[in-house]
Amino acid sequence: MRLEEKVAIITGSGNGIGKAIATRFAHEGAKVVIADFDEDALTKTVEELKEVHENVIGFNVNVVNEEDVNKMIDRTIEKFGRVDILVNNAGVLDNMQAAPNVEDKVWNRVMDINVGGVMRTMRKVIPAFVKQGGGTIVNMASITALTGGRGGLTYTAAKHAVAGMTKNVASHYGKQGIRANAIAPSQVKTGLTHSMDHLDKEGMELAIRGTNLMGEPLSVEDISNITVFLASDESSAINGVVLATDNGWSAY
Ligand SMILES: NC(=O)c1ccc[n+]([C@@H]2O[C@H](COP(=O)([O-])OP(=O)(O)OC[C@H]3O[C@@H](n4cnc5c(N)ncnc54)[C@H](O)[C@@H]3O)[C@@H](O)[C@H]2O)c1
Repeated sequence: MRLEEKVAIITGSGNGIGKAIATRFAHEGAKVVIADFDEDALTKTVEELKEVHENVIGFNVNVVNEEDVNKMIDRTIEKFGRVDILVNNAGVLDNMQAAPNVEDKVWNRVMDINVGGVMRTMRKVIPAFVKQGGGTIVNMASITALTGGRGGLTYTAAKHAVAGMTKNVASHYGKQGIRANAIAPSQVKTGLTHSMDHLDKEGMELAIRGTNLMGEPLSVEDISNITVFLASDESSAINGVVLATDNGWSAY
């Protein structure tokens, strides 16, 4: 019970990595808020997790929408009295578009979700953390946050921004008991590619150079293990880190 009595919000937790994190958090005793804009996945995940822990609630939230984000955090505090952990996990891919092929509509969507979404939740939660004397943020970056050529241009830029925001918050608010760290996974077995409507062949060919050195794709449990550690007090000395989670791929 490493998160006993902690209140945790996890965005994008209807599916994939977010769902695995929410499931693990519930097993570790946390009161869990499932937030997703995929209504069916949201309902299913809430129902499943209520069997693990009675204190599970769901919000239909689009992280692009400030009102949704603010309501989610206000209602969490109304229901549970506080919020201890925010996991910014919601994210989409960019069709792997190489620089010459970037479409404005793809750039704007990916930036609004992957960067704007993280900014909006942190903007709202930090004052609540300050008021209650602290809190912990875990942002789901990607190995593209630490490297150059392993994704499309927009996704790479967005995840670098997530790394920067993580360090900024850690640096500015660490003294007030707030920690912000990020996880930077290589490929994880999920349905993330569904967030692409077509694929840029040139970008894909460029991005997969070197995947022969990547090793096996990670499981969602690999990521939820690390998230529990970064969200819990066991990692209290770690702040502002972007943790490569890639079986050593980027070490080469
Ligand atoms: N799967 C991978 O290989 C991989 C690798 C590195 C990083 N990541 C990152 O991990 C995170 C989770 O990805 P995943 O692989 O579990 O994908 P996924 O598609 O299985 O899950 C993503 C979830 O986010 C939700 N979501 C997307 N946009 C949203 C929005 N605007 N508002 C609310 N919810 C939204 C989706 O509905 C979905 O439930 C993403 O940030 C992704 O960039 C994934």
